[in-house]
Amino acid sequence: MAEPTDELVLGCRPAPAGPDGCASAAPSGGGPAVPDATAPAGPPVSDPVAPAGPAAGASAAAGFVPPASLADFAELARAVLPGDVWDFVAGGSGAETTIAANRAALDRVAVLPRVLTGVDPRTEAALPGGTYALPVAVAPMAYQRLLHPDGELGLAAAARTAGVPYVASTLGSTPIEEITAAGGSLWFQLYWLRDRGLVADLLDRAHAAGCAALMVTVDVPVLGRRLRDLRNGFALPPQVTAANLPGGRDDLAHQGTPGVSAVAVHTGAVFAPALSWADLAWLRERTRLPLLVKGVLDPRDAVRAAEAGADAVVVSNHGGRQFDGAPATATMLPEVVAAVADRCAVLLDSGVRSGTDVLRALALGAAGVLVGRPLLWALAAGGRAGAEAALALLAAELRDALTLTGCADPAAARHLRTLTGG
Ligand SMILES: Cc1cc2nc3c(=O)[nH]c(=O)nc-3n(C[C@H](O)[C@H](O)[C@H](O)COP(=O)(O)O)c2cc1C
Repeated sequence: MAEPTDELVLGCRPAPAGPDGCASAAPSGGGPAVPDATAPAGPPVSDPVAPAGPAAGASAAAGFVPPASLADFAELARAVLPGDVWDFVAGGSGAETTIAANRAALDRVAVLPRVLTGVDPRTEAALPGGTYALPVAVAPMAYQRLLHPDGELGLAAAARTAGVPYVASTLGSTPIEEITAAGGSLWFQLYWLRDRGLVADLLDRAHAAGCAALMVTVDVPVLGRRLRDLRNGFALPPQVTAANLPGGRDDLAHQGTPGVSAVAVHTGAVFAPALSWADLAWLRERTRLPLLVKGVLDPRDAVRAAEAGADAVVVSNHGGRQFDGAPATATMLPEVVAAVADRCAVLLDSGVRSGTDVLRALALGAAGVLVGRPLLWALAAGGRAGAEAALALLAAELRDALTLTGCADPAAARHLRTLTGG
């Protein structure tokens, strides 16, 4: 990852961190959906989510001059975030070898372009919850109000503008009902809790709130050992809470102790450590929503999930935050795709940083991808406007990648040949 420079030459200068440890809110604005690279630099623009309706497609991104790449948002975020929050987001588990492996594996994937195809590509794609503007979903990510006061509402609004699903985390700092009320396509991500009554309540709430799909995360029986958080004694600031889990011991996540990650203590207290295939069967029985199983790496597990009725598996190592030493997702993707054949869709997650990466994933057989940290960095840098700029950039990059490889649409990209090793 690029180191931040003293002089920020890309994008607007982000707002300083507020006294509460969050980056401070910026004024509201509206404008065209595609960020205007020629607009003068100005303060990040933020607009608490407008209700769905005629204005729902309007963008708050005008006035936010996006950097040239998604990865560049990291520099902007690092300049405004408190160090421990930066580490919580950017870090992984152990020696962070899996984080590095994710990137290296994607970089090794070369895609063979086709020529003279005479196409003007479209980016729409079918995903389990419907047809979306891009083969992309916003990955579920906890505690988004840590990054910016716009929090989940800001990132969900950006997803709505971009026409992609927003996956709301069990550990969101805004209740799911508030996010769905703002419109857009919302998927709910379930962490399996020790208290099955609470799991059932969350499912009922997700259904009642109108979520379009359910994503169960299966790679967090316990939180990975995230050394940065341990060294920082990381704890949530008082105003950032586990808003979907009232009475869920979230006091534990706020108790700062040197050498201890309060977030890990909290999840240890509330997450079920021994999730099994029987639990997945129970879940499949309880919902008619499209079911995605996130955190699969072994093709045998992918096949079993498909046989258990999953509509999709998400090949993910949690962005290198869980088992350090797990293989890169781009390495495992082709085997998983081959093993499940057409039994269910396969999505790729972990390390996606550009439209080229999306194309690489498609060419390796994925139906789509989840994008994580870059969107949190963009949220930190400019609230909703920053996140809108990041998703607009990703859309433009994907369109370019499709054009340059002669693909009419994301489905066509799945027929491209790939070579690993350059
Ligand atoms: C700060 C942060 C919080 C996360 N919280 C969750 C979560 O609540 N549920 C979940 O399934 N995954 C969570 N993840 C993992 C993401 O969904 C995703 O798998 C990962 O970020 C993808 O890797 P990338 O960041 O390299 O794109 C989180 C990731 C980050 C960085």
